Amino acid sequence: MERLQGIRACVFDAYGTLFDVHAPMRKLSVEIGEKADEISKLWRQKQLEYSWLRSLTGVHADFWHVTGDALDYALAQYGVEEPGLKDEIMSLYLKLEAYPDVVAALEAVKSKGKLTAILSNGSPAMLDSAVRHAGLEKLFNMVLSVEDVGIYKPSRRVYRHAMQKLQIHDAPSVCFVSANTWDAQGAAQFGFQSVRVDRFGLKDDRIPGKPAALIKDLSELPGLV
Ligand code: 2OP
Repeated sequence: MERLQGIRACVFDAYGTLFDVHAPMRKLSVEIGEKADEISKLWRQKQLEYSWLRSLTGVHADFWHVTGDALDYALAQYGVEEPGLKDEIMSLYLKLEAYPDVVAALEAVKSKGKLTAILSNGSPAMLDSAVRHAGLEKLFNMVLSVEDVGIYKPSRRVYRHAMQKLQIHDAPSVCFVSANTWDAQGAAQFGFQSVRVDRFGLKDDRIPGKPAALIKDLSELPGLV
């Protein structure tokens, strides 16, 4: 794969890219039942839809709120009503596992002298908790949340916010890394050199923006930058 030219910073999406969002329901699959996988996928889909709908309607609520609403929907849709289960799942969302390829890739990218940051829909408290729990504190120069902007990705305002914080004035100097198709493509459309991590075996979405590279996991990232 061809190396990306002129990269000064690698900016990472959090959920689905660094952190495994399906770990909570996997851990509680005995309590939740045989549909745990399906419920987890619906939860994720609704979480994203609600973030976009709130951005379009201008009625912002932070990602903790949106994630809770989406979980309520998914559990209700499958008729799961055990008392206390929602709180248990939500508390596991604050302690998500990092994918096994994350630490080594970040260390390698840092050792190449690149800045590293997270740019996520997550609220500052959620991100702080996830980063600490996975022991990633020292591997990022910055952890940036959309809460500073008040709208969700893929709004261009969010990607621009990362440039401002990193004090980078030309978008192609940023390598944006996401396993979410719409995010990798939104960032590419904005002007970042975008790398999609194909964790879920997905096709590109039929929306504008083409990632500069598609990798199977983060072990391939250091060779690109
Ligand atoms: C993020 O971390 C939602 O995965 C998305 O911003």
